[in-house]
Amino acid sequence: MQTQRLRIAIQKKGRLSKECQDLLKRCGVKFNMVGERLVVHAENMPIDLLLVRDDDIPGLIMDGVVDLGVIGENELEEVGLERAARNEASDYIKLRRLDFGGCRLSIAIDKDADYNGPQDLNGKRIATTYPQLVKRYMDDIGVKFTTCMLNGSVEVAPRAGLADAICDLVSTGATLEANGLKEAEVILRSKAVLIQSTTAISNDKQALIDRLLTRMQGVIQAKE
Ligand code: PRP
Ligand code: ZN
Ligand code: MG
Repeated sequence: MQTQRLRIAIQKKGRLSKECQDLLKRCGVKFNMVGERLVVHAENMPIDLLLVRDDDIPGLIMDGVVDLGVIGENELEEVGLERAARNEASDYIKLRRLDFGGCRLSIAIDKDADYNGPQDLNGKRIATTYPQLVKRYMDDIGVKFTTCMLNGSVEVAPRAGLADAICDLVSTGATLEANGLKEAEVILRSKAVLIQSTTAISNDKQALIDRLLTRMQGVIQAKE
């Protein structure tokens, strides 16, 4: 279902949502977030914002349901690998890396454990929300492991006896610290990115995207 209006998927609530809304506003998109709406119409441009869970954004782009999305590279790469493994569409166009949402995806272990390098992870069970990225990393370095898939509370898995280690996002390190864990390996450095669907769109929509990109360039440069 193509619409005349440009559809942009953004995270409803979480680490990217505020800065993402700020960026769009600085680019001159006027909108008003009221209540628990899924779709918010911009007031001054033919743009609709879709407020969704970040996990859903890569798929919405890869299926061509929305035109643009703002998403963390960690989530984008995880979903891309997962879909590619299932032979589902996994293409997208990366328009630009943004200046927020910085974090790293790291393997962490008990803070008191001895650690001399990735070979110490051999045979360990790793709790994570990012099984594909963990597998890519471990396969690359040739270390065997098993997974414990958790969509939340990953950091408590070792203490709860569910896993030997975790692989989760780290930004300040406070979560690791609070759970008696230490970073062992950084497997991905991530930032928010603006992505576009590869689905063909009208010239008008593409012109609007180009205009937004130009403004974004100015907004981001002005902050640097
Ligand atoms: C991530 C991650 C940790 C936390 C790390 O969760 O799962 O819990 O951030 O950040 P820190 O190093 O600054 O403590 P997120 O906030 O994305 O929410 P979620 O766990 O609910 O997905
Ligand atoms: Zn998420
Ligand atoms: Mg968390």
